[in-house]
Amino acid sequence: PPSAMGKEDVGREELGSLHGIPLYKCFVEGWPQVEAFQARPDDLLIATYPKSGTTWLSEILDMIYHDGDVEKCRRDAIFNRVPFLEMKAPEMPSGVELLEKTPSPRLVKTHLPVQLLPTSFRDKDCKVIYMARNPKDVVVSYYYFYQMAKMHPDPGTLGEFLETFMAGKTAYGSWYEHVQGWWEKKQEKQLLYLFYEDMKKDPRREVEKILQFLGKEVAEATLAKILHHTSFQEMRKNPAANYETMPTTLMDHSLSPFLRKGISGDWKNHFTVAQNERFDQHYQEHMVGSDLCFQMEA
Ligand code: PPS
Repeated sequence: PPSAMGKEDVGREELGSLHGIPLYKCFVEGWPQVEAFQARPDDLLIATYPKSGTTWLSEILDMIYHDGDVEKCRRDAIFNRVPFLEMKAPEMPSGVELLEKTPSPRLVKTHLPVQLLPTSFRDKDCKVIYMARNPKDVVVSYYYFYQMAKMHPDPGTLGEFLETFMAGKTAYGSWYEHVQGWWEKKQEKQLLYLFYEDMKKDPRREVEKILQFLGKEVAEATLAKILHHTSFQEMRKNPAANYETMPTTLMDHSLSPFLRKGISGDWKNHFTVAQNERFDQHYQEHMVGSDLCFQMEA
């Protein structure tokens, strides 16, 4: 809407805090509505730490829900087709408002750590698909996102941003606690836990897992269509999937496109040897005792 486009004052500001988790101040203000959110039993929740493949998984699910109909999946931008639960920004409908207007069955996006998930999702026994990505690629992707999405504080240099990330001070807090917190819920059979690296390696196998989890079957031609339409190359040029319709005051794709590289192992092009050693050390300390394993490259 032109009103949002004319607003040049969506500036960078420090993060607020939600129950100890660093988060955008707007989102913190909108929290009472999120906490009181009424889930429906047939809602499907897509949960991720930021930059872990949320948009990719969202497009895959919308394609599954529309039986591979590419035109139907162009009906609106991905952030409207799959509303972002805790989203709140000036002059835009909040995630909760969008969801209330969305007909069932709804797809819901969240980055909330498991302990902050509104209780209604559990009360209604909603299915959840969680996707995790290795932290080195997450932090690089997040670094570029901080630059292009102006609601974030200034990320500083990559070296500084790595420290912010390791200290759990990026938006949504500690990656370690996020992936582990959701992993501990994995024994609950309503949760499917996926990895970005597996999806890169064998998207067909992962989409088949999703179909099985949803109890859906699709024809081979439909599966082929889903895989093609949700490839990085196709999504990157699709205005309904690549976030280019967001107001530039919120996201400036000339600084870095939202669909930036879409690979595993890009951290190797960014980390120095010393940064990598420090990160590995920190990773080992924080993952000790967990049976959760990450593939750091393709
Ligand atoms: S957000 O803002 O948290 O919702 O971002 P999210 O969608 O989780 O993550 C963005 C990264 O996912 C990459 N991406 C993809 N990779 C491979 N294939 C497909 N189809 C795809 N779609 C999105 C996107 O490029 C971001 O990663 P980087 O490493 O920055 O390229």
